[in-house]
Amino acid sequence: MEVLTKLRHHANQIKAHHLRDLLSDSSRNTHANFESILLDFSHSKVTNETLELLSEYAESSNLFTKIAGLYSGEVINPTEGRSVLHTLLRAETSDLPIFGEVVDVRNRIKDFSSKVRNGEFVGVSGKPLVDTLCIGIGGSYLGPEFVAEALKTEPECARAAAGRKLRFLANVDPVDFIRNTSDLDPHTTLVIVISKTFTTAETMMNAKTVKEWMVKSLGEFPADEVVKKHIVAVSTNIPKTSEFGISVENVFGFWDWVGGRFSVTSAVGLLPLYLQYGENVTNFLKGANSVDKMFLEKANRGGLSQNLPLLLGIIGWWNTEFLEYSSRAILPYSQALVRFAAHIQQVDMESNGKQCSLTGEPVKTTGPLVFGEPGTNGQHSFYQLMHQGRIVPAEFIGFCKSHSTDTLAHNELMSNFFAQPDALALGKTDYQLGTEKCPDHLIPHKRFPGDRPSLSILIENLNSYTCGQLLALYEHRVAVEGFLWGINSFDQFGVELGKGLATQVKKTIETGNFDEHPSKRLLEFYVAHRNN
Ligand code: F6P
Repeated sequence: MEVLTKLRHHANQIKAHHLRDLLSDSSRNTHANFESILLDFSHSKVTNETLELLSEYAESSNLFTKIAGLYSGEVINPTEGRSVLHTLLRAETSDLPIFGEVVDVRNRIKDFSSKVRNGEFVGVSGKPLVDTLCIGIGGSYLGPEFVAEALKTEPECARAAAGRKLRFLANVDPVDFIRNTSDLDPHTTLVIVISKTFTTAETMMNAKTVKEWMVKSLGEFPADEVVKKHIVAVSTNIPKTSEFGISVENVFGFWDWVGGRFSVTSAVGLLPLYLQYGENVTNFLKGANSVDKMFLEKANRGGLSQNLPLLLGIIGWWNTEFLEYSSRAILPYSQALVRFAAHIQQVDMESNGKQCSLTGEPVKTTGPLVFGEPGTNGQHSFYQLMHQGRIVPAEFIGFCKSHSTDTLAHNELMSNFFAQPDALALGKTDYQLGTEKCPDHLIPHKRFPGDRPSLSILIENLNSYTCGQLLALYEHRVAVEGFLWGINSFDQFGVELGKGLATQVKKTIETGNFDEHPSKRLLEFYVAHRNN
């Protein structure tokens, strides 16, 4: 029997086994470790047979060769004719000729940010640039913001960031500009325009607004001097950055083989992060690199054993493709990871929300809907649906140590981290409710069906290094799932249509002629009620 058929057959068997039974089977392989990370998938609907079959499929579908393509420079994004090499951004050595440029940009970022931090590179009025305003959207925003938040309370990073602000302006909503700049002093603000293409409409509009704000506020100085001292860029498009007025020496480049959503460890993330946290960021790169190396080494040996990103990917694929769960919740029990789910949502959904295979054939199932919030906040929001409504495979992420010395509160937090997977998996039976003397009429309301899968990632401590590890774990899991579906996880044509239509609508609003427009009533209402 073909492996896929065997997997489908096996999925039907597994569906009939409640997680309660699987959890009582002590012969199951249920966890994997790497350095200070423990991945526990005991609460997933996976048995040893599932892992064997998935491993067999991985082998037969050349998954391990595909993974090697993330390191070799082979063109694995054929629709855009590009390699995919974000692993190179955190490598310590490489035989690839382009690596020299990677090291060069890294060194320029370190040099520039230390000059800003130590007051050697100052603003046009001679004041130190203690605040950073990053302008960018999507992959040029979500990853850096997630990492900036994650490191904020790590003691070494907090010390390095003392007296500095780091802001992100993403939305073209002009209110986002107000919210981000109202308490910033232009004299002490360094602006980074982050855009791979340097053509993204939202970013360009915000960059123009911020430039005008800077030039006006610092009106006693020549405009080009203000731009030279206060605005730098991260981009692959040097002609466009020059056109904007940014000096070439103030542009930090990257390459077309870095996809936007995989660009956190390029200048996109490194420049803001080095400016804010100094040398600590090197540990972030080292953490990501440690997972990159493990992922490749273990993939080269074949099999799933102890290969964390591969296990995450293969279990995720199993959940979506065979058990037919259409969503996934990312639930970090850590307020520092407040923006992690938002970042992974883009990495996952922009990569794997696809409709056809690499060769253009329609694909029935691809990536799940991804959402999340830190626990325990999420528990008081959408967990109700996860316990008694739809089945949403959950991914709990927790840390043994806290950035706070309040062990009581941390224990409280972590007790929830440990309790939720059990509540989802085991549920509560009518018999249990009976022993609790639950009135009969309330049993249907208070019953928990259980059998809801989850996996847990428990890490010793959240620091720059493990934050880099977590990033790489999830980046690679998304790639693994895409390889298994046979889709191109590295293009994003699905975002183009809406962008094009927005440009047309802008013109339609100017003409005031909405008669033929499908959103006629909305446009009329908008124009009648907007600010003049
Ligand atoms: O939303 C689509 C997208 O192209 C993302 O993939 C990308 O990260 C983002 O827009 C921003 O693009 P850029 O860095 O070119 O401004």
